[in-house]
Amino acid sequence: MRSQVAQEISKANSPEELEKIRVKYLGKKGLLTEILKGMGKLPPQERPVIGQIANQLRDYIEESLVSAKKSILQKEKLKRLSEEKIDVTMPGRVKSVGKRHPLTSTLDEIKDIFLGMGFSIVDSPEQSPEIELDYYNFEALNIPKNHPSRDIQDSFYINEDIVLRSQTSPVQVRTMERQKPPIRVIVPGRVYRADEVDATHSPIFHQIEGLVVDKHVTMGDLKGVLGAFARKLFGPDTKTKFRPSYFPFTEPSAEVDVTCFACGGKGCRVCSGTGWIEILGAGMVHPAVLKMSGIDPEVYSGFAFGMGLDRIAMLKYGIDDMRLLFENDMRFIEQF
Ligand code: DAH
Repeated sequence: MRSQVAQEISKANSPEELEKIRVKYLGKKGLLTEILKGMGKLPPQERPVIGQIANQLRDYIEESLVSAKKSILQKEKLKRLSEEKIDVTMPGRVKSVGKRHPLTSTLDEIKDIFLGMGFSIVDSPEQSPEIELDYYNFEALNIPKNHPSRDIQDSFYINEDIVLRSQTSPVQVRTMERQKPPIRVIVPGRVYRADEVDATHSPIFHQIEGLVVDKHVTMGDLKGVLGAFARKLFGPDTKTKFRPSYFPFTEPSAEVDVTCFACGGKGCRVCSGTGWIEILGAGMVHPAVLKMSGIDPEVYSGFAFGMGLDRIAMLKYGIDDMRLLFENDMRFIEQF
């Protein structure tokens, strides 16, 4: 029995297996327990001999179990420690930090400039929807039915009355309907036009609309605000030039150029040698637009402007192909 127990203990790999061995020999019905129980049936002269052997064997089993358990636990501990081992000399994992998209950085910069001048930002889907009524996108902006931009060739119509907005200007009307003057808002948003994709066109692009309505707002205020904006965005020496233009929803209307920030006005590749770069359209809100939006043009006047975010970002960062802005190629975005 002694050699049998010794063999079983040496093969045991866990405290649970050792416990089974203990029960097998020393439990209530254990093999050795049975022998001890049967001592009474032995002839008296044999009892001390057998009793001594049995007791020695019990001590032996108990001690063997204790020391076997100790060494199993020690082995398990060593195994665990070696599995948990870390090599502190290994180089750390580099966390890659994302880059801001150039459109986002440009928009953030423009928002900051206008926030600094007391404008607020309208960009919620409720107040500035991309799926727009024909009424807001065209009708209320004084754009006549026969205007080319109303052609299904140029705008994405969902049905006769609903269109993917082709400009952020409809938010002028929505804002005036919702809010009484004084109004000072900018509206950054996505717009849609049925254009073929090329280096300077995309069916989806971004505009930033501006609107100021109050008593006594003049063209001088418009020039002051846009001049300050251009100096903040393109540098303190930037000049602005207003060229007469036409938009159905402003009167008078202007297109606004800034001195080329690449050459400072001397003429270069960026400005096609003219020294000027066109950045936006603007004008005094047409009285008919004010009236349709529920604002009395006899009491209030306003100015508006609209610029292309994509174009400004391209100019600012020297990006020569608009498609790069929409492809999300990390090799491009990582450069900013
Ligand atoms: N909505 C015009 C466009 O998409 C841009 C524009 C011009 C907006 C003049 C204005 C403005 O607010 O006053 O071409």
